[in-house]
Amino acid sequence: MQYAERLQHVETSAIRELFKLLGKPGIISFAGGFPDPALFDAEGIRTATAQVLEHQTDAVLQYGATEGYQPLRQALSQVMSERGAAVQPDELIVTSGSQQALDLIGKTMISPGDKVIMEAPTFLATIQCFRLYGAHVIGAPVDAHGVDVDQLEALIAEHRPKLVYLIPTFGNPSGATLSLERRKRVLELAVRTQTLIVEDDPYGELYFDAPPPPSLLALSAEVPGSREVLAYCGSLSKVLSPGLRVGWLIAPAGLLGRATMCKQFSDTHSSNLTQATAAQYLALGRMPAAIAKVRSTYAQRAHVMASCLQQELGDAIAFNAPQGGMFFWARLTGADGHAQNAAEFAKRAIEKLVAFVPGAPFYAHSPDPATLRLSFATADVDKIAQGVARLRAAL
Ligand SMILES: Cc1ncc(COP(=O)(O)O)c(C=O)c1O
Repeated sequence: MQYAERLQHVETSAIRELFKLLGKPGIISFAGGFPDPALFDAEGIRTATAQVLEHQTDAVLQYGATEGYQPLRQALSQVMSERGAAVQPDELIVTSGSQQALDLIGKTMISPGDKVIMEAPTFLATIQCFRLYGAHVIGAPVDAHGVDVDQLEALIAEHRPKLVYLIPTFGNPSGATLSLERRKRVLELAVRTQTLIVEDDPYGELYFDAPPPPSLLALSAEVPGSREVLAYCGSLSKVLSPGLRVGWLIAPAGLLGRATMCKQFSDTHSSNLTQATAAQYLALGRMPAAIAKVRSTYAQRAHVMASCLQQELGDAIAFNAPQGGMFFWARLTGADGHAQNAAEFAKRAIEKLVAFVPGAPFYAHSPDPATLRLSFATADVDKIAQGVARLRAAL
């Protein structure tokens, strides 16, 4: 079979290979990127689905508009205004998860050989997705306060990228949050260089103690011209349920129209049933309580993970405790005398029945082999303590 040339540039993720080992009985996993299913508001979703099937049967069982189910577009416009960004319903389209929004951006914007800048490290699926369209991906360094804007500016000047992809709030995998000052600088830089910024924001609502700075989209109201060079991807996956596959894309009209056209050729529209369910769920007013539960549960788990890592691994590991989201990004310092290779450490850890993801695959190039990602989302506090003790045994 002669497969398409574009497949030459991507491979199935190394992380998926690791996941095959996770079925081992008794394993404690910090490896996944899934939310905790115990936190799904199943009762609320059941109620919303039943109401939709009772009252909107024809609309949800029929084909619908590519742009999305109108009541959901209206509800998401309301969600965005509660998050500080004025967005009209026709300024967003509903997508099948934010993953599809990213794919549509890739399809709409990237030609083979185009350069794209992303944080190093960043969300692996976006690296793969943009590469599928032929992007040449360039990594921009990240610290505890998000992407280094001086370096980003230099990279933009050097490479003139087609777009810059950022996860400014509780990044996956970095856990980092871009500071307010850097957010403003990113927007000013985007306007000055006329570079499209793609803000991916599935985790912004999952803050622990205090809300993060406003999204780039919300801040764009303060930086003239920035809204015209900004696309925003939102998702209900981490706050409600990933199985609903409800995400959305907000973008300047030209990009949004073309992305809608590409979506039409791809899946016609996202499921009306889950879109209507999401709209009905939001109308029921259950979201604030559901999010509050997710926030407090993850906050407790993150605090326990931070103190256990500190106690058990001491200076063998360095990390910045995240202020929200689902991930710790850590680095083996070699202070325990062992080689600083997280992939080797992962193998020893699996033998001790604890799993995490080595950091290298999250880099488009020049990986730091000493890095790793730990998710605290699905393990309860006892499992977290036990899992970190096993990590120590695996050092
Ligand atoms: C940074 C980031 N973007 C996008 C996604 C895709 O989420 P979904 O397609 O479920 O909305 C994820 C999922 O893990 C993610 O971590």
